Formats: sequence, C-alpha cells, structure tokens
Amino acid sequence: MMNNLDDLKKIQELDPTGMLKAEEDFYEQLIEAQNIAKNADLLKLNSCEFKGVAILGMGGSGFSADIIKTLVADEIKVPVEVVKGYDLPAFVGKGWLVVAVSYSGNTEETISALNQAIGRDAYILIECSGGKLKDLAEKSGYSTLNIPSGLQPRGAIGYLFFPVYLAMDTLGLIDIDESDVKEALDLIKEKASIYNRKTLTTANPAKQLAVKIGDRLPIIYGTEGIYSALSYRLKCEINENGKTPCWWNNFSELNHNETVGWERLSGITSSFILIAFRDPEAHQKMKTRIEVTLGQIKSNVAEIVEIPVEGHSKLAKALSAMYLGDIASVYLALLTGVDPTPVVKIESLKAELAKLD
Ligand code: PA5
Repeated sequence: MMNNLDDLKKIQELDPTGMLKAEEDFYEQLIEAQNIAKNADLLKLNSCEFKGVAILGMGGSGFSADIIKTLVADEIKVPVEVVKGYDLPAFVGKGWLVVAVSYSGNTEETISALNQAIGRDAYILIECSGGKLKDLAEKSGYSTLNIPSGLQPRGAIGYLFFPVYLAMDTLGLIDIDESDVKEALDLIKEKASIYNRKTLTTANPAKQLAVKIGDRLPIIYGTEGIYSALSYRLKCEINENGKTPCWWNNFSELNHNETVGWERLSGITSSFILIAFRDPEAHQKMKTRIEVTLGQIKSNVAEIVEIPVEGHSKLAKALSAMYLGDIASVYLALLTGVDPTPVVKIESLKAELAKLD
C-alpha cells in the first residue's frame, strides 16, 4: 500500500531526521558551499604547478569526484584521477594535487589512499566535516575545506562537491564562468520551489517520478560524461534513500553488449522501469542511439521515463538533472513507508571492519 506524498504529517513521521529537508535546502547548501570555498585558506597550494589531480572518496563523498571529473573534462590540461579504494595508482605522487573527500572524515579507504599520497609528498587538500581527517588536517596544517556536519553524506552533496570544484578554479586548474554558476544556482532555486513537499503531486515532477517507480525495479541509462556520473548517482540514491535495488549503464557502451541481454526473461523485466537522461543538445548520433535503443527495449519493460535535462551550461544541466533524481529517491522512500535516512548495512559493515584496526 503506497502512501500519499501530499500527506505532510505522514512525511514528517516517516522522515524524523530530515532527509527531505536536506534536499529542499539544496540551494541554500550551494550558497553556503560557495562561502566555504571563498573563505578557505588555500595559500599553501596557490601558485603550485600541478601535474595532475587525484580526488579520493567513497560513496556519497566519492560522487563529488565523479561529477567534478566530468565537469572539468573539456578544459583541464592535466589528468584527473578518481580514486575509490585503498590504494593510489603508482603514477600519483610528487607534484600531484591529492584531494581527500570524506564527509565523516573516517572512511578507511580514503584515509589509506591519503596516507600513501602524504608518503609520496603530493600536495594535499582535505575536505571533511570532522573525524580523523579533521584531526590530521589540524595537526599537519594541510589546506582544508571544513564543511558542516550533521547530514548524511548523500544529503550533503552541495557541501561535498561545490567547494572542491570552486577551489580548482582558485588554484588555476580550471576557469569557471561566473554566469554558469549563476545559471545553475537560479535553476536550483526555481526547482526547489517546485520539488518541495508542499507542491502537490499533480504539479511536482519529483513526486511523479517516485510514483512511477513505485514497486518497479529501476534501471538507469545515461551517456558518457556528466550523465554517466548522474546515472550512477541516481542508482545509488535509489539504493540508499529508497532501499530499492537498481542498476545503471551508459550509452554508447551499452550498445555493444547490454542491449542483447534484454532478449530473455521478459516475464521478469516487464516489472522494470527504465529511466534515461536525455540532453536535447546531445550529438545527433547519440540521440539516434538512444532513440533506437529505447525502441528496441520498450516492450521488455513496464515503462520508459526520461529525465529532462534543463539549462545551458554543463553545471546547470548536471545539478538540475541530479536534483530531480535525488529528491525523487527520497520521495520513493516516503511513498513506500520507509525512513530515507538509515543505511544500516553500510554502518554495520564499517563497525565490523573497525574491529580489525
Ligand atoms: O551514503 C553513505 O553513507 C556512504 O555512501 C558514505 O558516503 C561512504 O560510506 C563514505 O563515507 P564518507 O562520506 O563519510 O567518507
């Protein structure tokens, strides 16, 4: 039995620690994140010549690395490496900027890779809200982006991604256009007024997306670049907020393998919903790929839904498309009577691993 997403009292009961509020406050979070970047002391890193940038992080924190890598890909002149794991690749070392991102500041893979970077004499930037990383940054005097605590990492994406992205501009690695930032912020402000709990389902695309997913198994399709990062993000949000299994893939890679896999088990896949990001400004070849592929798969799934991509700049497109999926995943939890916040399996595993320290 599904809940009514317009029942504000029920929403409040199901979400006592405010995951939906964190989403509704995304615009304010981005504004505060801008101030964190503006006031950060990056003097130690200023005027360094970086050979490359490695961004370390897992899960909700690691997503900031994915989105930054795709956002800067068209202009950055040095390699950007995303490290999601215990070990740094051998080529990351002296002369590289290593950015360790961990919301809690306690994620063991991130700390392990950071320690390797310190051992190799890389330039270090830390972003966290507390924990071991904060202690390390204070003791060792590393440049730090201190972000507010008290949220779930996935609900703190504005704090996690924006200061690092803006710091890369300050450090001369990229040149962010002020007007792109303004466009993105204006669009998020407008979307926040539409996606928030008070807007009824009939006029709220985020609630509508959650209702469409309902008890269907979602598959997310993106395209290489930002929509790859966003597809993975949406899959993780549906997993963690919605407590729902979900898988993802990318055009054009999926055209070389996955499409064939839809040929069997249509009795099972008929309860799947396919969610695709569609950028109206995509290359014509990509548009055709998507068109043809969705046509091939249509009869194997219950429904195909498109996430509309709005805005002109890459930043505005990325943030607004991500926002719709993020908040829809919270509504999915509320629709199905689940508290979006707890991530019991993640925490119990971390506790088991901590016993080995
Ligand atoms: O959403 C979550 O809780 C996880 O994906 C965490 O972000 C992940 O386990 C890493 O923790 P942290 O973000 O604190 O480094």
